[in-house]
Amino acid sequence: MSAFSAIVKPALFAFSRKDPEIAHNLIMSQLAVASRIPVALGVIQSLFGYSHPALEREVFGLRFPNPVGLAGGFDKNGVALPALAAMGFGFIEAGGVTKLPQPGLPRPRIFRLPEDQAIINRMGLPSKGAVAVAEHLRRAYQRLAIPVGWQLAKNKTTPLENAAEDYVYTMRALYPYADYFSINVSSPNTPGLRTLQNKAFLLDLVKTVTRESQNLASGKIGKPILVKLAPDLSSAELDDALAGIAEGGAQGIIATNTTISRDGLRTKTSEDGGLSGRPLAAKSLEMVRAISLRTEGKVPIIGVGGIFHADDAKRMFDAGAALIQIYTSFIYEGPAAVKNIISVLAKTGY
Ligand SMILES: Cc1cc2nc3c(=O)[nH]c(=O)nc-3n(C[C@H](O)[C@H](O)[C@H](O)COP(=O)(O)O)c2cc1C
Repeated sequence: MSAFSAIVKPALFAFSRKDPEIAHNLIMSQLAVASRIPVALGVIQSLFGYSHPALEREVFGLRFPNPVGLAGGFDKNGVALPALAAMGFGFIEAGGVTKLPQPGLPRPRIFRLPEDQAIINRMGLPSKGAVAVAEHLRRAYQRLAIPVGWQLAKNKTTPLENAAEDYVYTMRALYPYADYFSINVSSPNTPGLRTLQNKAFLLDLVKTVTRESQNLASGKIGKPILVKLAPDLSSAELDDALAGIAEGGAQGIIATNTTISRDGLRTKTSEDGGLSGRPLAAKSLEMVRAISLRTEGKVPIIGVGGIFHADDAKRMFDAGAALIQIYTSFIYEGPAAVKNIISVLAKTGY
């Protein structure tokens, strides 16, 4: 058993039992400090980093040292990217960032379900807002050895008809600091957001954002635009969303966000929010498989949902994912989560 599982996790989980966000904020502030200290980064890297040429990937024109990324929502304001990179991630998706600052929903809004190795969250996309995040990056930006994507989100109060303006505004502010952008139309805690997965909305949104990415690239190829989908789409809704994504010109798909379903949960809970972790795994895997089949493997997919170990990762790659992301397993398994997965992938030729 690692020191994390034996000592750190039980202590962190115990003192943040009533509000797991306390533990998250504590870890984030430690990682933010470590991000400014080269020696600390070196120590983290030496403990948790792992590299092997077989793990390298090239997707949407970007080079990834390994295919396991940190999913959106962990470092919402981009304050600890160097320390997270030192933990061995092959890429990081920072954000989601909204146009204007917003507090999200009242706390507690994160709930651990250890028996299910799951989390329910109804954060509601708290964000410092595009201007503050860009200002922080302007002062503290460090170019990392891994790609960093920034996730664009919509303010709760922005009407759906004006949503494209929110995404474009945030992309403009963060353009110099991103290797790719993802469009979040799938968080379950912003009322109406998932309606943007309808073809008409999505087509217009993706077209507007990709066109602006091209404009901002000043003669070069625009930075890749990805769309993150919900796992709760019906087959017809998925077809609709894929048509919008293809016609709008997005370069990739992230599947999936958290689910509103409570199927298969052992823990009795009536908390609202999106469910992540183990109970989501089969659903996300099915979505990745369906997307891969319907797009004939031509659109790169980032598979995310309930990936804990190398076997889960392999199933995602076999279903058609080019890359994967984790969130909940990083909470449960700790800082060695990535190394544990990629060291096995490297040894087994994935
Ligand atoms: C506390 C928490 C906050 C999250 N915030 C976001 C977010 O801001 N944007 C987003 O697209 N997904 C967000 N997610 C969803 C994750 O990015 C991921 O899609 C989902 O948790 C499934 O992966 P997992 O089972 O590995 O956690 C969040 C998840 C959790 C647990």
